[in-house]
Amino acid sequence: MSYEVKNQQLKKWVEEVRALCEPEDVYWCDGSQQEYDQLCDKLVKSGTFRKLNEQKRPNSYLAWSDPIDVARVEDRTFICSISKQDAGPTNNWMHPKEMKETLTKLFKGCMRGRTMYVIPFSMGPLGSPIAKIGVEISDSPYVAVNMRIMTRMGKAVIDVLGDGEFVPCLHSVGAPLAPGQQDVPWPCNKEKYIVHFPEERSIWSFGSGYGGNALLGKKCLALRIASKIAKDEGWLAEHMLILGVESPDKQKTYVAAAFPSACGKTNFAMLIPPKSFQDNGWKVTTIGDDIAWIKPGSDGQLYAINPEYGYFGVAPGTSAHTNPNAMASCAANTIFTNVALTPDGDVWWEGMTEEPPAKLIDWQGKEWTPDCGRPAAHPNARFTSPASQCPSIDPDWENPKGVPISAFIFGGRRSNVIPLVYQSLNWPFGVYLAATMGSETTAAAVGSIGNVRRDPFAMLPFCGYHMADYFAHWLQIGRTTPVPPRIFSVNWFRKDANGKFLWPGFGENMRILKWIVDRVHGRGAAVESPLGWMPKYEDIDWTGLDNTVSREQFYELMSVDRDGWKDEIISHEELFVKIYDRLPKEFLHIRELILSSLWRSPEHWEQMDPTAVEGYND
Ligand code: GTP
Ligand code: SPV
Ligand code: MN
Repeated sequence: MSYEVKNQQLKKWVEEVRALCEPEDVYWCDGSQQEYDQLCDKLVKSGTFRKLNEQKRPNSYLAWSDPIDVARVEDRTFICSISKQDAGPTNNWMHPKEMKETLTKLFKGCMRGRTMYVIPFSMGPLGSPIAKIGVEISDSPYVAVNMRIMTRMGKAVIDVLGDGEFVPCLHSVGAPLAPGQQDVPWPCNKEKYIVHFPEERSIWSFGSGYGGNALLGKKCLALRIASKIAKDEGWLAEHMLILGVESPDKQKTYVAAAFPSACGKTNFAMLIPPKSFQDNGWKVTTIGDDIAWIKPGSDGQLYAINPEYGYFGVAPGTSAHTNPNAMASCAANTIFTNVALTPDGDVWWEGMTEEPPAKLIDWQGKEWTPDCGRPAAHPNARFTSPASQCPSIDPDWENPKGVPISAFIFGGRRSNVIPLVYQSLNWPFGVYLAATMGSETTAAAVGSIGNVRRDPFAMLPFCGYHMADYFAHWLQIGRTTPVPPRIFSVNWFRKDANGKFLWPGFGENMRILKWIVDRVHGRGAAVESPLGWMPKYEDIDWTGLDNTVSREQFYELMSVDRDGWKDEIISHEELFVKIYDRLPKEFLHIRELILSSLWRSPEHWEQMDPTAVEGYND
C-alpha cells in the first residue's frame, strides 16, 4: 500500500475480496498522472491498448473489445432487493441470499494470475456534502484508467473518506489466468452479471469490461443505487444532461434533459448556437452530459450537480459539424474504445468526416475499405475524455451547491407521432409525459435496435426500485417544491414519408431551446393543444436560417395525429397494467383528460395556422 488507509471497514472488505478472488497481487490506486501513464504502458504491452499518434492525438489510446462485450447487458442486470415487489416488474430480480451464493461461486478464484486494483472514487466534487464515495475493486487496469477520467479517483478520496461510509463496488472480468497462460487483449466472460443490492448499497459486476457494466461509479452507483438513496432522502438521481443558457441580457437559465441512451444528450449538452444567435449574445454552457443529482435547496428551487468528472460519449455521428465541443474534448488525453484506426495512427468513425478514409483497420482489427460493407467503428464505440477539456464547460460545473434548474426536458427517438416540442400544462401532466416517454432502441444496449419501447424518464434500465414508486416520488417532489421547473417534451427525430429527418437538429436545436427558456421566463407565446402548450411558426426564432424549415415542414413536425395518439395512449396502458400494483392514481385521470382533448375538434390547429389545418387532421 503506497499510502495509509485508516478505514477499518474498507481494509476488512479488501481483505475479504482478496481471499475470495485470489489475485496474484493487490494494488491501491493513488490517482496520479504517473500511475495513469504506467498503467497505460502496461495496457499497451498486454495488447489491450494501442498508443495513438502523439502529434495527432496526444496522450491517447485505442482499445478494441471482444465482440461479445460491446454494450450494457440489460437482461443480465439485477436489482436484488429483499422483496421482489420493491424491485418492481421492470427490473430483473433474484433474492439477495440466492444471488450472493451464485456470485460467490463465480468470484471464487476469478482474479487468479491478475492484479486486483483498489480504486477509491468520489461521485461529485471531493468533499462536497452531496458527493458520494465508492470504492471499486477490479481486476481490469482498463477500468482503473477509465475511472481516473470519469471520476475523482485516488488517494485524495481516501483522505476525505476517513472512517466514513463508502459504496463497495466489486468488479471482475471473470477470466482467471492459469500459471503461464497467455492473456488476451480484452479478457471477459460470456456469462455476465451486473448486480445491485439496494438495501445494503453494494454492487457486484462479473464478466464484462465495457462501459456501464464495468465503470461502476456511473450507471450502477450514480443511477441505480443513488436513485434508491434519493427516493429515501427526498432528492432525484437522473439520466439527464445539464446545460446553461445565457441570454443577451446575461440572464443564466439552467435546464436538465433526459433522453435515452444514444439519443443526443452529449450533443445537446454541448450545443453551439447558430451564428445569428451567437451574434445576438446567446451562449450555451455544459455542466454534464449523462447524469444529474438534483436536490431541493433552502430557497425552494431544485439544484443539480453532475456527479461525473468525464464524458463516456458515443463516437459515431460525432463530428466538427455535429458537435465541435465533443471533438475538442477528445482531441487529447482520451481513451477510445471500438473505433477504427487510420494508417497514420489516428482514429475514425462513421460520421466523423463526410468522406471516409480510403483504408482503415476496423474495430475488430480487420482491414477496412469504404465499400467493404461493414461499419468501421462499432455503433456503440465510445471516447472517454476529461470533462475539463470541453470548451463549453460551465464555470460552475464543480460548484458543490449545484445550479438551479428552471426546466426539465424529455425526449426520445421517435420517427412519428411525437411533435417537435410542447410544454406540459403543469407538473403532474409533465410527470405523466415523462413516465410514458417512448424511444426507438439504440446500440447502447445489447438487443434489437429500432423498436419503440416505453422508457420512462429515460430511466428504464437505471431505476433501482419499483418504477411506479419512482413516478410517485416525482409527483411528491412537485408537491413539496414551491416553484417546480416547467416540463417540456422534444423530439428531434421525426421523419417525413420518405424517411428523412424533418428537423435539421444539432445546432438548430437552439431555436427550440430559446422558446423553452422564453416560456420559463413568461416571455414565449404559445397556443393550447391537446397535449399542452405549443409554439406557432411565428413563436420560433428563425433568424439566419434561410427557410430551411418551411412553415409546412414545421407544422408537419408539430402535428398531433389523432389516430397515432390513440395508439400511443393504448400503449401507455400497457406500461400501466404492468406496474398496476403501485401506479399513482393521478395517471389514470391524466390519461383520460388527454384522451378527451384529443377527441375534441382540431381547433387548436386553426389557432396555430389557419392555412395548415387541412391534411393534419381528419
Ligand atoms: P448515452 O451516453 O448512451 O447515455 O447517450 P447520449 O444521449 O449522450 O447520446 P449521444 O449524444 O452521444 O447521441 C448520439 C447519437 O444521437 C448519434 O447517432 C447522433 O448523431 C444522434 N444525435 C444527437 N443529436 C441529434 C440531433 O439533434 N438530431 C439528430 N437527428 N440526431 C442527433
Ligand atoms: C448509456 O448507455 O446510457 C451510457 C453508456 O451512458 S454506459 O456507460 O455504457 O452505460
Ligand atoms: Mn447514459
